[in-house]
Amino acid sequence: MAAPKKTMRALQYNKYGGGAESLKHVEVPIPSPKNDEVLLKMEAASINPIDWKIQKGMLRPFLPRKFPLIPVGDLSGEVVELGSGVTNFKQGDKVIAISFPNGGGLAEYAVAPASLTVARPPEVSAAEGACLPTAAATALQQLKAAGFSSFDGSGGDTAVAAPKKNVLVTAASGGVGHYAVQLAKLAGLHVTATCGARNLGFVRGLGADEALDYKTPEGAKLQSPSGRKYDAVVHCATGTPWSVFAPVLADTSVVVDVTPGLAAAANSFLQKVTFAKKRLVPLVLVPKKEEMEWLVDVTAQGKLKTVIDSRYPLSRAQEAWAKSMEGHATGKIVVEMGGEE
Ligand SMILES: NC(=O)c1ccc[n+]([C@@H]2O[C@H](COP(=O)([O-])OP(=O)(O)OC[C@H]3O[C@@H](n4cnc5c(N)ncnc54)[C@H](OP(=O)(O)O)[C@@H]3O)[C@@H](O)[C@H]2O)c1
Repeated sequence: MAAPKKTMRALQYNKYGGGAESLKHVEVPIPSPKNDEVLLKMEAASINPIDWKIQKGMLRPFLPRKFPLIPVGDLSGEVVELGSGVTNFKQGDKVIAISFPNGGGLAEYAVAPASLTVARPPEVSAAEGACLPTAAATALQQLKAAGFSSFDGSGGDTAVAAPKKNVLVTAASGGVGHYAVQLAKLAGLHVTATCGARNLGFVRGLGADEALDYKTPEGAKLQSPSGRKYDAVVHCATGTPWSVFAPVLADTSVVVDVTPGLAAAANSFLQKVTFAKKRLVPLVLVPKKEEMEWLVDVTAQGKLKTVIDSRYPLSRAQEAWAKSMEGHATGKIVVEMGGEE
């Protein structure tokens, strides 16, 4: 009988910078799950900009905690071993998980905290499931931070006869944005979406009521084609100064920004202390198990679709990394461990 496998294929980097070329294929020991962790035989992982931003040193000196690092925190796989204290999973369970900031996803096996691991039903593919933990959860938390908490299509608890609130989603063709458009529609909102010219039809297909090419003069000013002002902005693009937002916002409005720079953070602070009605709110994802379960559930029900830009086997994960760094994905970028090598 063959001895149990002790090592696995993985990609890791040893220093800040270097992009895809710094990711090296290695054979390393399979990690052991510690207390309250599960070991997954990986089926798929999805890359997020935060993965290569950490490599670039944008969160230095906090992350990564150590080199070498096997990156990528959005995981999909099968439970093969339980750490002590884990009682809610068993070997063979298909799950999705988030392992942030430890990563580990670009490998044949990865450990994840049981507290951020949820069951994946057969209606949700491993690749789709791997896309949800960061991107879809961020979109959901942005909408919640903007005051929308009901996603049953009714338009909110009190808004039965009221006009639909108008929401702008920037970078609506990206990983976060394409979920945000769909979740905003589930919340019963009127949605204006910004994207490049090639994706105008794509974002309308996701449900956007109006689409705006960000490279046109109107797009640069975020002016909706109908001239409607925004009650909220789910801001997923980078580098938009407050002076662009201010004229297109309704009298009371919030911009939920997942990529705030220093100026945005300073503005946000000033607006808060002056009780401004138009406000920028920075948001950093705080993963929550119940939200991951909800996202899996609405996906299984066919209410939330994951669009996969491109899929790569582990042997070509550097290409996936480079593709994400280019910043032009339509939907999500996935690495599949069982794929053709
Ligand atoms: N704070 C947090 O917790 C958190 C969590 C998740 C993500 N994020 C951040 O959110 C951002 C978006 O993440 P993502 O995963 O969605 O990225 P992504 O998938 O790489 O986004 C790529 C898409 O954005 C579009 N795009 C780029 N600039 C645009 C602009 N100015 N206006 C309209 N569309 C634009 C691109 O269109 P073209 O190809 O046509 O240019 C492309 O389709 C990243 O900076 C990420 O780091 C933050």
